[in-house]
Parts: sequence; structure tokens; C-alpha cells
Amino acid sequence: MSETKIQVRKNGPLRIEGENILIVDAEGRPFGLAGRTVVSLCRCGHSSNKPFCDGTHGRSGFDSDCPARDLPPPAPKP
Ligand code: FES
Repeated sequence: MSETKIQVRKNGPLRIEGENILIVDAEGRPFGLAGRTVVSLCRCGHSSNKPFCDGTHGRSGFDSDCPARDLPPPAPKP
């Protein structure tokens, strides 16, 4: 199985690239992606087509740079 890559774009969306992308709504229903292998999800909150990016981040002045870093280990489960 090929790897799915999620890139945090500087001042922009989350770009998902993979052969078998599944995005579901709050009830677990899948969005129809029409065979896309690349999808961008809005991270700025201003898209008119949420959860997908529509490019509004560029006009809204969204400013967020998230360089890669290591997370601490997850908290133990009770
Ligand atoms: S990140 Fe592109 S419209 Fe929000």
C-alpha cells in the first residue's frame, strides 16, 4: 500500500496526496472525491467549500507556518 502524505502548507491548506483518500463527514459519510489523488483541506476557516480549500486563505491574510517537529509520547491510557 502506498503512503498517504499530508503537507501543512505555509499560510495555506492541508494538502493530502495519496492513492486512496477517504474523507468522511461527522456522521461517517464519505465525500465523493471523483477519483482525486490530491485534495486540500481548509486550515484557515474562510473557505466557502469547507472542508476543502477554495483559495480564500490567500485573500484573507491567513498566516501560519508549522515547521515539522516531534510530538511528545502520547499520554498513557487510564
Ligand atoms: S486554507 Fe485555503 S481557503 Fe482556508
